[in-house]
Amino acid sequence: LRIAVLASGRGSNLAALLAARERGELAAEFVLVASDKASAGALQLAGEAGIPTLVLDPKVYPDRRAFDLDLFGKLAASDAELIVLAGFMRILDGEAIAPWAGRMLNIHPSLLPKYRGLHTHRRALEAGDLEHGASVHFVTAELDGGPVVAQATLPIEPDEDEHRLAQRLLPLEHRLLPAVVALVAAGRLVWRDGGPWLDGAPL
Ligand code: GRF
Repeated sequence: LRIAVLASGRGSNLAALLAARERGELAAEFVLVASDKASAGALQLAGEAGIPTLVLDPKVYPDRRAFDLDLFGKLAASDAELIVLAGFMRILDGEAIAPWAGRMLNIHPSLLPKYRGLHTHRRALEAGDLEHGASVHFVTAELDGGPVVAQATLPIEPDEDEHRLAQRLLPLEHRLLPAVVALVAAGRLVWRDGGPWLDGAPL
């Protein structure tokens, strides 16, 4: 499976994908890592792994749609079959991503449908939740709103703070995302009739 990864930050989820491939758990070729931030750690990781990189600066585009059309045009040219959003911190334009329906996954640090958007750990704590988690979902035009494929949960501990909760969740993300991508690579998780199917049955 030819995969392109979009990341804005440190890139630990990208690292987890690369490690899964190294271990033989993910039959994938990483064709591109793209970012909206030249300083993203993910770009450095990609460079070290010999993966082509691309940086697009949102400030040089007139609006979000122009940026997204250029980005997703370049992703199409990369020959990627699947796009993985691994900490890509931008809202995406519905028209620009329409050609990628069913071919783009995102990892989001909450138990969706709870806490779409930012500050998910803080919001879970403020709500007094007893558990928190991460979700991998197919991307649609609705922010963090596409069909959820898999989740990982962890209990919230007494006196937990936002930073610690985020830190404890991260290793779960690092297992969850490669596991879901591996399902796509194995042909077990597919998009059919406008929704996700696993092993021949709708999710
Ligand atoms: C992760 O928590 C991911 O769920 C969220 O952004 C963070 C990215 O971390 N969307 P990293 O760049 O993969 O280390």
